[in-house]
Amino acid sequence: MSLRLGDVAPDFTAQSTEGTINFHEFLGDSWGVLFSHPADYTPVCTTELGAVAKLREEFSKRNVKVIALSVDGLESHKGWIGDINETQNTTVNFPIIADEDKKVSALYDMIHPNANESFTVRSVFVIGPDKKIKLTITYPASTGRNFDELLRVIDSLQLTANYSVATPANWKEGEEVVVAPAIKTEDIPARFPKGHRVIKPYLRMTPQPNK
Ligand code: BEZ
Repeated sequence: MSLRLGDVAPDFTAQSTEGTINFHEFLGDSWGVLFSHPADYTPVCTTELGAVAKLREEFSKRNVKVIALSVDGLESHKGWIGDINETQNTTVNFPIIADEDKKVSALYDMIHPNANESFTVRSVFVIGPDKKIKLTITYPASTGRNFDELLRVIDSLQLTANYSVATPANWKEGEEVVVAPAIKTEDIPARFPKGHRVIKPYLRMTPQPNK
């Protein structure tokens, strides 16, 4: 059965390039990103892992631990990391799960047989400190992911977890946000002292409250 938002991210123990990992222990109190790759030594995946390695500071600033997965073995992963570091001019700084028996891929429904019977699609799971799934994204093998977008949605998830707001289309950190529908308009000044705009009774904007 596929995983849905709000479900507890299934725990597992797996071999990775940084040793045996128990997923929930690895996450600890952090946010997490688990993302899958169709196969080692493939061009798009090589650029993706390089891109994520370069964003290390951005992920740690947001208290996010990153872990990748591919269905190839550990020796293959280790050789491939050398290529990623060399060609993408970076150092891979997060574990890559060696999911040769496809146990984790099956647990997270990362293999979509009508796309490919053996390889995972490009899945992304963002997991909150409560171990619940906050976001899922699925891309086909032929399309590399946009990791700036992943950071953007993490900013939104973290903001909306702490304040009664939502983020509008194309929102970016620092921009105006939407006051949650559950808040009565008369209660807005006390809840959002930086000010607000009522565009429609259901569309109320306020400056980002934690900025
Ligand atoms: C790639 O990562 O380049 C890739 C992997 C599987 C199919 C197509 C592209």
